[in-house]
Amino acid sequence: MTINPREIFAQRLAGRLNPPRAAEARAPANIALAKYWGKRDKALNLPMNSSLSISLARWGTRTRIAPSDRDQLHFNGQALSTDDPAAKRIWEFVNLYRQGLEAPLAIETDNTIPTAAGLASSASGFAALTRALDIAFASNLALETLSELARFGSGSATRSFWHGFVRWDRGAQADGSDSFARLLPQDWPEFRIALLPVDTGPKAQSSRQGMGHTFKTSPLYTAWPDRAEADCAEVQAQIKARDFNALGRVVEANALAMHATMLAARPALSYLQPSSWSLLERLWIARSEGLEAYATADAGPNIKLIFLAESQADVLQRFSEAKVVAPFDVSGGNI
Ligand code: PMV
Repeated sequence: MTINPREIFAQRLAGRLNPPRAAEARAPANIALAKYWGKRDKALNLPMNSSLSISLARWGTRTRIAPSDRDQLHFNGQALSTDDPAAKRIWEFVNLYRQGLEAPLAIETDNTIPTAAGLASSASGFAALTRALDIAFASNLALETLSELARFGSGSATRSFWHGFVRWDRGAQADGSDSFARLLPQDWPEFRIALLPVDTGPKAQSSRQGMGHTFKTSPLYTAWPDRAEADCAEVQAQIKARDFNALGRVVEANALAMHATMLAARPALSYLQPSSWSLLERLWIARSEGLEAYATADAGPNIKLIFLAESQADVLQRFSEAKVVAPFDVSGGNI
């Protein structure tokens, strides 16, 4: 017997939906160091493989919810009609959460990421929304349960409930009850991320579509799930060992292996653009000259570098367009 998303929300929220009140929540965006790419169950949004990310400190999403006389949604200050595709996904998720309860809501959601950084984040969006719903309906769920529920909005949202290194276990249960993220205990204050924007416009194909197309048509995809699981374990081990170069090598190889599965899809799927490749070339030359920095890229053309604080001046000199984030510097308040 297969279980559907409605039943899962009903189970987790049994006795935990109270009349809504005003709520505000924030969540950081995250960058996967070991990527999630492909689903083993589409309806439950269960991943083929575990993934591991680093959160982007204060860059993310802030969401406010208030009881209202009708459903309305503002995204970055703009009203979104209910048939806008982004709004549809949000209301579908809200409807799963409120389970037919007569509770119209006004939702305001704002990115705290500079648009120029080229990082529109469904991860922080759905994590902030899930947290705000939990507060609004006084559900008082554990963060791990919120992570499990956020999975239905966006897979990468499972990892946006904490600052620091976070691992989303693929899980083994058919109902997905063990497929959620957890915070890893390691801090690494010198860890840095640089965002190198290539194109900050909307992406050509959503990660949801891209994953499905790669899974269905790429002959290289068969090699991905085992490799990705092993890479995720290796990333975790190197974080624990604090071996930055060993970590960087696997992070970069994992990202490029993911993009290789897409390039082999039929027709080919290429999120990386010529300028993304020239940034990679520049990085590889810099590395041959001694720079200890490594690259990763997601379902878009923008390149992200990881490096340690001691390399920051060199990174900025070589990549003056870089926007640097110190992921463990979360002092001074919220995201
Ligand atoms: O869960 P989604 O739809 O945001 O997909 C995330 C896909 C990647 O960003 C490419 C990889 C990842 O693990 O975040």
